[in-house]
Amino acid sequence: MSNLCKPRQLGATDIHVSPVALGCWPIAGMTSIDVNDTDSLATLEAAVDAGVTFFDTAYGYGAKGESERLIAKALGHRRNELAIATKCGMHWNDQLERTFDARPEIIKRQCDESLQRLKTDRVELLYLHAPDPKVDVAESAGALKELMDAGKARSVGVSNFNVEQLATFHAVCPITAFQPPYNMLQRDIEQDTLPWCREHGVSVVVYWPLMKGLLAGKLSRDHIFPPNDGRAKYPMFQGQEWQKNQDFIDVLREISDSIGRSVAQLVINWTLQQSGITSALCGAKRAYQIEETAGAMEFVLSPEQLQKIDIAIQERGVVITRPAV
Ligand SMILES: NC(=O)c1ccc[n+]([C@@H]2O[C@H](COP(=O)([O-])OP(=O)(O)OC[C@H]3O[C@@H](n4cnc5c(N)ncnc54)[C@H](OP(=O)(O)O)[C@@H]3O)[C@@H](O)[C@H]2O)c1
Repeated sequence: MSNLCKPRQLGATDIHVSPVALGCWPIAGMTSIDVNDTDSLATLEAAVDAGVTFFDTAYGYGAKGESERLIAKALGHRRNELAIATKCGMHWNDQLERTFDARPEIIKRQCDESLQRLKTDRVELLYLHAPDPKVDVAESAGALKELMDAGKARSVGVSNFNVEQLATFHAVCPITAFQPPYNMLQRDIEQDTLPWCREHGVSVVVYWPLMKGLLAGKLSRDHIFPPNDGRAKYPMFQGQEWQKNQDFIDVLREISDSIGRSVAQLVINWTLQQSGITSALCGAKRAYQIEETAGAMEFVLSPEQLQKIDIAIQERGVVITRPAV
């Protein structure tokens, strides 16, 4: 049995989570195309059957909490086998614009609503989705601490924070997990927040390990994104960046073929072997996708294979990650 399929401890808590977690944003159907309830429910069930016990959702995944409701519907009967993480502080307004609001009263109301949608009395992890520039981080931290003390959240995390915000929050409410973007080509956290988390015993649970599907290696060079596919606006999917990324994936494919694994499995396995990373949030909207990525827990890349990948990353160079204006 590979070391990578063993549950990992979340921070200093007694909560253990699978290294591959299911990212439940795609099933909200807001930016992913071709989403339907039948496939979403099957994806959630397939995840558990494939050994995934960690589910990542948010108050704002869906205009009306579609993602949280689907989790309750598909997995309510297995609630006690799972670690559910949700987030507060982000919602969609009446014009369907993403809105950050981390005032204490909003955080508490959203947490109660999330618990109702999830049909549960507590979550294993409650994150602040992002800092709200209009609210002092310490004030939001106070509200999350109260929710933890009330037993509604067994632990607290934050997402999209810088080091200063992490330290301010942590002084008021102990942080168990940090959720930043991270993948082979987007590695900013290695400079500051990842070392801070290592030093403070905070788990790092990363999003976009497949770079929004690019590193799954299944989008062909001549792929044309339909207008409603939210990914088209990112430079990594455009022009020269797209060609360079496809060249990079060709190198990864040579390595993954040589060990009888898929590119997605190679990418997630590499991610899980990076120091300080506890779990990778793998988004999926179809059962076969999470079945494939969960397979990344079944093997361990050797030091030589990891080195080959690191050389390919260096040769690919820094990527442009900002969305096109
Ligand atoms: N805290 C935050 O601010 C934040 C922000 C973003 C995401 N997140 C969390 O992180 C999770 C992961 O991010 P993400 O879902 O945006 O991106 P991701 O995991 O990098 O990519 C997911 C997409 O990759 C494609 N994919 C996955 N497995 C595949 C497979 N085996 N074969 C082919 N394609 C495959 C699917 O796209 P298609 O089928 O559409 O091609 C899927 O929707 C989210 O679901 C969410 O839980 C958090």
